This record gives sequence, structure tokens and C-alpha cells, in this order.
Amino acid sequence: MKEKKLHWDEVYRNKDIEEVSWYQPKSETSMEYILDLNLKKNAKIIDIGGGDSFLAENLLSKGYSHITVLDISEAAIERAKKRLGKKADQIEWIVADASNFSSSEKYDLWHDRATFHFLTKEDEIGNYVRTLDNSVKKGGHVVMGTFSEKGQEKCSGVKIKQYSLHDLGEVLPEGFEILECKNVDHITPSEAVQNFSFCSFKKS
Ligand SMILES: C[S@@+](CC[C@H](N)C(=O)[O-])C[C@H]1O[C@@H](n2cnc3c(N)ncnc32)[C@H](O)[C@@H]1O
Repeated sequence: MKEKKLHWDEVYRNKDIEEVSWYQPKSETSMEYILDLNLKKNAKIIDIGGGDSFLAENLLSKGYSHITVLDISEAAIERAKKRLGKKADQIEWIVADASNFSSSEKYDLWHDRATFHFLTKEDEIGNYVRTLDNSVKKGGHVVMGTFSEKGQEKCSGVKIKQYSLHDLGEVLPEGFEILECKNVDHITPSEAVQNFSFCSFKKS
């Protein structure tokens, strides 16, 4: 945990917001998927590995009022709070490793863009999926985006696990039904193309 945390703290302390490859102020695909779910405005939403928290900001601007951002990096959360100013008070913030965290809270939506794919060990993946399963309400939703099999093998200098649409669709346990899956290209600030697999799920 410590090594990972140090890596991410260093990234957020040394790189500008617009310099990180995942920079995406409009959270396009995530917002498209989330808006399609027609959640209530007071739905409990958690963004795993929220980083600079543009998704949380986009959700606030659409009137969602119960948002939690979790990130392993305290520096990321401090930077997001600073950028959001007063709006940060409307968000709940958690510094934790998504592969080693437990919560008694139940969420209507679990969102993860480009965090899950950093878990490469079976036990970390298993732990993450178990926590997700315990934390999502019945009838709740999951939106996940990872690098696809056509994407890069590393992100932020760290080896990641690629997921094809088929692989991503198989990640969640029984009881999660796939609603939609597609591949999307993300263009980084340095104009590199990163192919993502994105899926949304409903828990029955
Ligand atoms: C590639 S960035 C994506 C940030 C954000 N989701 C976005 O789409 O802009 C990955 C984020 O996940 C966080 N992270 C990496 N490993 C994590 C873990 N095990 N638990 C929680 N957060 C993690 C990093 O600090 C970073 O903010």
C-alpha cells in the first residue's frame, strides 16, 4: 500500500492537472453512462480513484448531492479540494486503497475510471470485487472503464491489467447484469490515443 501511495502522491505533487494522461474535464463516457441510469439526485455515488475529481464536479453541476470520492493519494484529494473550493464541502472524501478498504455504506452507484486496471494481483482484484459487491445496493449500478486489450500496457509508468469488453463484462460476480459495454478512445493532453473498455452494470 505504502509504495503505491507514495507513487500517486508524487504524481499529484509533481504534475500539473492538465499534464496527466487521464486528464478529462468533461468525464464524457462516464457522464453519458451515468445520465442514462436516471438516478435520483440524492443517489449515493462513490467514485473510486477519483483523482482530480472532475467526475464529482460534473455530477454536482447536474444536481447530484450525495457524492463520495475515494483515492489512495492524499495529495490527489488535497489538490481536488483546493481546485473545487467551496464545492468540496458537498463531497465526502476518503483516502484509502480500493483493494484494501471496507465500508458499511451502501451505494446506488460505484464508478471507476482507470483505477481498477492498476490491480494486477488476484487477491487485490478479489478484494476489490468483494468490497464492490458488499457496497452496492440491490438495484444499484456500477460503471467501470479500464484500458482495453488495444490500449497501453502501462499508465503513469505502472503496469496495468488490460480488459477486453468481454473480460470486463466477466469481472463482477453473479447478480450483476451488463447494461452496456463499448470501447472508447481517450485522447491524452499529449495527443496519444488510449483505448478504453467501458461497461455499466445493474445489481439485481
Ligand atoms: C489514472 S488515474 C484516474 C483518475 C480519475 N478516475 C479520472 O478518470 O480522472 C488513477 C487514480 O486512481 C488512484 N489509485 C490508484 N490505485 C489506487 C488504489 N489501489 N486505490 C484507490 N485509488 C487508487 C490514483 O491515485 C489516481 O488518482
